[in-house]
Amino acid sequence: MSFKKQLNWRYATKRMNGQKVDETKFQNILDAIQLAPSSMGLQPFSVLVIKDPETRKKMAPVCYNQPQITEADAILVFAAWNNITKESVNTYISNIADARNAPLESLEGFKQNILGLVGGKTQEELVTWSAKQAYIALGFGLFAAAIEEVDTTPMEGFNPEGLDEVLQLDKKGLKSLALLAVGHRDAENDYLNGAVKVRRSADDFFIHI
Ligand SMILES: Cc1cc2nc3c(=O)[nH]c(=O)nc-3n(C[C@H](O)[C@H](O)[C@H](O)COP(=O)(O)O)c2cc1C
Repeated sequence: MSFKKQLNWRYATKRMNGQKVDETKFQNILDAIQLAPSSMGLQPFSVLVIKDPETRKKMAPVCYNQPQITEADAILVFAAWNNITKESVNTYISNIADARNAPLESLEGFKQNILGLVGGKTQEELVTWSAKQAYIALGFGLFAAAIEEVDTTPMEGFNPEGLDEVLQLDKKGLKSLALLAVGHRDAENDYLNGAVKVRRSADDFFIHI
């Protein structure tokens, strides 16, 4: 399998056909998202996996009625933590200790580093920082889906406050950042199916020093 061929196969799908995505492939995409790296490994965001058709119908108006919202098999909502609490840092440190069978004391310096970094940011800065981590995971999801020949659309075309309201994200301590529609292209009705990729030339894009 050539990953470059797959990256040319994928495109931001505008129309999907409602077909279900194979469960193993779908799980592989979720695994890739979960395995994405994040600054200090904290993963300060969550991903909602929305398959429920009723919920997606409610989401459509705040997503400017983009058809993928209801035509995809699932919508993944990447959402930043509203707050990075001392408890969430403690949980992360305990996870490392458990996974690597390491004494908690050995992680104290690392924990203080995280708390120092987090403590030095305003809430707005923390959400921006979390968003950067979430977008790396979004990219991993896009890449994995391409490898699996599953179609996707990364989406920022929605009203975040409206979506937070529909999904009651505030109660979960979350703020929506970006969506990933996951499904299969409607090859006949999608005007972008088969369109040539448009990217800046490598000469313009890369700066070799
Ligand atoms: C962060 C992000 C947000 C995007 N938002 C939308 C969107 O709301 N709706 C949509 O149809 N496409 C959306 N796109 C798709 C881009 O328009 C598309 O990726 C770009 O034109 C490159 O084309 P390609 O992905 O088909 O290669 C978004 C892409 C990214 C990365």
